[in-house]
Amino acid sequence: MKILGIESSCDETAAAVVEDGSRLLANVINSQIDIHKVFGGVVPEVAARSHLEVVLPVIDKAVRDAGGWSEIDAIACTTMPGLIGSLLIGSLTARTIAVAKNIPFYPIHHVEAHVYANFITSAVSELNFNNLPKNQPQFPMLALIVSGGHSQIVLFHDYGNYELIGQTQDDAVGEAFDKVAKILGLPYPGGPSIAKAAETGDSSRFYFPKAKMSRKYDFSFSGLKTAVLRSVQSEVGVDHTFPSNELHARLDERTRDDFAASFQNIAVQTLVDKVVVAVREFAPKSVVIAGGVAANQELRKQLRERLPEMNIEYPPMSLCTDNAAMVASLGYFVSRKIKPADPRDIEVLPSISMTKTAWNLSENLAK
Ligand code: KG4
Ligand code: ZN
Repeated sequence: MKILGIESSCDETAAAVVEDGSRLLANVINSQIDIHKVFGGVVPEVAARSHLEVVLPVIDKAVRDAGGWSEIDAIACTTMPGLIGSLLIGSLTARTIAVAKNIPFYPIHHVEAHVYANFITSAVSELNFNNLPKNQPQFPMLALIVSGGHSQIVLFHDYGNYELIGQTQDDAVGEAFDKVAKILGLPYPGGPSIAKAAETGDSSRFYFPKAKMSRKYDFSFSGLKTAVLRSVQSEVGVDHTFPSNELHARLDERTRDDFAASFQNIAVQTLVDKVVVAVREFAPKSVVIAGGVAANQELRKQLRERLPEMNIEYPPMSLCTDNAAMVASLGYFVSRKIKPADPRDIEVLPSISMTKTAWNLSENLAK
């Protein structure tokens, strides 16, 4: 079964075709990073306008790459959660196509879809993926979902059957990377620029405490961001009244890189500590990481070192950040369990949690 995935929840317009949830036939991503860079973050109205300009060409290219519309058996589209204007552009387009071409339609939860990047194990050679996981993960599967909007540990018992083990109580870890990058004067998006600066930095130079949580699998990253801010202020010799957007001009490159490395090290350790405890408690068969921060090499390294017995495989970086392959892959597993939705009758849900997705909605009873 070949599924066309469509993704537009934030600042990437993407379309992909995946066969049977695992084989990537086409993968097109139009990133808006350059557009939002000048503003230092995503501007929702600008994002929606850019989606509108490129959504049809992006879909058209993916479908042509996969051999044309006659090859497409169903459409899966991110309809939740995300920026409302962005979600609307992709989902209205997808719904219209589904109606016009009479193709089954599956609404997809973006955060859940990130996890399914781990299920893509092969791709047509034109796409040049030579580092895909060799095996699909097995259930029970422990997923660390870390993106710009989410930091969660979720235990998957089966497709569509999962429980939230812990989550951030304030900032998501990707958000912390982005905010610390701003403090350090590193370009947007902050995750990759912190990771790059950290390569030449000394992670032991600055000490930041890990947040203590009353529930052991919960996270908190806003304190860490503030700890970095205070430490930078003290390093350059100013107090908290000094404008934070002018701090970086007083940092030399070496000190900046040491801050990046020290922050990254503690942020990653915080994530890995909890995954290690959860692996001991829940004994999953597989551990996966998902979301933009899953592209972080330090996270991959620390997880491998501390969980050697799990033989963790990682999706390629381009399938960790937003893409439509993950949406199409999840669409396949959804299609095996539940009825397609009526494309005339779908709402976008900008802030719904993963535990309330289509899999659980009573109107989508098993076939
Ligand atoms: O999943 P994603 O592309 O979009 C959301 O659904 O949020 O994640 C974006 C987040 C941003 O916060 C970005 O800074 C972070 O992922 N990110 C990284 C890396 N690449 C992207 N964080 C740390 N290291 C990276 N290499
Ligand atoms: Zn995402």
